[in-house]
Amino acid sequence: MSCRIVVLISGSGSNLQALIEQLDAPAEIVGVIANRPQAYGLQRAAAAGIANECLDHQGFSSRETFDQALMARIDSYRPDLVVLAGFMRILTPQLVRHYHGRMLNIHPSLLPKYKGLHTHQRALEAGDSEHGATIHFVTEELDGGPLVVQGRVTVQPGDTAETLAARVQGVEHRLYPLAVNWFVQGRLRLSATGATLDGELIAASGLRMEDHS
Ligand code: GRF
Repeated sequence: MSCRIVVLISGSGSNLQALIEQLDAPAEIVGVIANRPQAYGLQRAAAAGIANECLDHQGFSSRETFDQALMARIDSYRPDLVVLAGFMRILTPQLVRHYHGRMLNIHPSLLPKYKGLHTHQRALEAGDSEHGATIHFVTEELDGGPLVVQGRVTVQPGDTAETLAARVQGVEHRLYPLAVNWFVQGRLRLSATGATLDGELIAASGLRMEDHS
């Protein structure tokens, strides 16, 4: 049976595009939901023939009421997996618990470094020699759930936040399809003790993409 995937976006949707192009059978992106009407990713979904819609958070008086409506929209697609792909919202504990073990996020840093925003600038200011992106299961701790896999880039002399972000995005576009395909194939799961690949516990620091591609 096909793995039904809902993707949540806020902006360009380049990670959504990578998933559209690189997901293996038996996966199907059954819906794309944006919280901003101008999110370009909605056009990408439409171009690929995927059901898409906007649920504008500005029409809601609280985080709780928005998340309740969002859950109802997500569940209308009966997903096996919910993929956060540049979805710029802090989620309520109720929503996160509802999708326990079936919600993944991508974060543009080598977690646990640089949770939150402005990750590229912060890596530069810290003088890091390496930077990158991380896929993790979503739990109630912001950018804090069990790590799955990380992709690295070397920080180059003269890098700006923009040049670094562009190279990290190149990595993201290989990293997310890799992790989602693992989930689709039933290889990636969240157990009581952490994320597992092929039944083996993934170390707290996550796997390295370079070892799996
Ligand atoms: C990505 O860099 C992701 O890591 C961050 O938001 C960005 C989304 O980009 N959370 P896109 O919308 O997939 O192009």
